[in-house]
Amino acid sequence: MLQDITRFSFPTSIIFGPGAIGELPGEFISMGVKKPLIVTDQNMEKTDAFKSLLAVFKNKQIDFQVFSGVQPNPHDVDVENGVSVYNSSACDFIIGVGGGSPMDAAKALAVLVGMGGNIADYDAQSDTKKEIRGPLPSIILIPTTAGTGSEVGKCSVITSTAQKRKIFLCSPQMMPAIAVLDPKLTVSLPPHLTAATGMDALTHNIESLTAPVFHPMCDAIAIKGVELTVKYLEKAVKTPEDIEARGYMMLAAMMGAVAFQKDLGTAHSLSHALSAICGLHHGLANAIVLPFVMNFNKEVSKSEYTLIAREFGIDIYGKDELECAEKAIEEVRALNKRVGIPESLSSVGVKSEDLQELTEKAYLDPCHYTNARSCTKEDLLSLLKEAF
Ligand SMILES: [Fe+2]
Repeated sequence: MLQDITRFSFPTSIIFGPGAIGELPGEFISMGVKKPLIVTDQNMEKTDAFKSLLAVFKNKQIDFQVFSGVQPNPHDVDVENGVSVYNSSACDFIIGVGGGSPMDAAKALAVLVGMGGNIADYDAQSDTKKEIRGPLPSIILIPTTAGTGSEVGKCSVITSTAQKRKIFLCSPQMMPAIAVLDPKLTVSLPPHLTAATGMDALTHNIESLTAPVFHPMCDAIAIKGVELTVKYLEKAVKTPEDIEARGYMMLAAMMGAVAFQKDLGTAHSLSHALSAICGLHHGLANAIVLPFVMNFNKEVSKSEYTLIAREFGIDIYGKDELECAEKAIEEVRALNKRVGIPESLSSVGVKSEDLQELTEKAYLDPCHYTNARSCTKEDLLSLLKEAF
C-alpha cells in the first residue's frame, strides 16, 4: 500500500455549535448565491427546528423556496419533482434539511439540475453510467438527526420507482460545500430514533475502520467517532435536552461518514436489504445485525476491535486480541440494550420466509465487497439466521 499514490480529501466546510444556523446568511454572501431551494420532508416542515431555520432567512430578507416532497427512502420521482420546483422558482443553490432522506434527495437534485437526465443515468453500479462531472449547484446540508452523516458524504441513495431497488449516485462533485451541525435542531428527536440513528453512526465508524482500504486519517477519525458514540449516545437517548450529548453525537455521525470515504461492510448490505424488503429503519437494522457481523469478522478484524474495546473502557494491555475483540462485541450488544434496541430481527417484524429474498438482495448490494472478511451468499444467509 505504501508504494501506491493515494489522495486524501476532506473538502466540506463544517460549521458546528448550538445556533450554528445563524451563520448561514453570511455564508451565502461569500458564496455569491441568492435564492436557495430548501429540500425537506413534510414531517420536518412542521417542526420548530425547521421554523427556526426559516426565521433566520426571513430576518435577513433572504428569498427562498421550500420543496417538502421527499418521502422516506427518497424516490427518483421526488427528486424530479424537486428539479421542476428549482427551475420554475429560479433558485441558484440547494439546501437539504432533515435526516438522510432529504439530504440524499438534495444531492441527487443537484446532479439532475447540473447534468440533466434522470437518476438511473448515474447508477454507480451500471457499466454505462454517465460520469457526474459537474458543475453542480452548490449544496448546503443541515442534518436534524445524528446518524447518516450524509452531510459530508459524496453519495446519495435514491429508490428507483421502476426498478424497485436503491440506486447509488456517487461523485466528489456531490460533496456539500457546507455542512451546518446545530445540535439544537436534534433535541426534539424521540429516543428510539436517537438510538437507531446513533447506532447507524457507530456502524459507520466500525465498518469503515475495518474496511480493507488504505486511509490512516479516516482510521483515526473512525476511532474518535467510536469514542464519542460510546460516551454520548446513551446520554442523548436518556436526556434528550442535553446539548453537549447531542452535539457530540452530531460530531460522531459526521465523523463516521467522513471515515466511510473508505467504504462500509456487510452490516450495511444486510440493512439495505432489510429496509428495502421489510421496511426496517436503516439505523435499527444496522444496530441489530452489527454484533453478528462483528462476530463474523472478529478473526480478521481483531486488532481494530481491540481498539474499539479500549474505547468501551476495557483494559486491553497485554491481553489477547481475539479476547478483546469478543469483549468489544459484547459491549456493542450491551450498548444496544441500554438504548432500547431489540435483539433480533424477528422481534421487529421480519419473517423467516423473508430470509432468502433478503440474502439475494444483500448479496447484490456493493457494501459487503469492502467488508473486512469476504462474504458468500451462504455467509449472508447464516448471518441473517443468527440475527433472526
Ligand atoms: Fe448507514
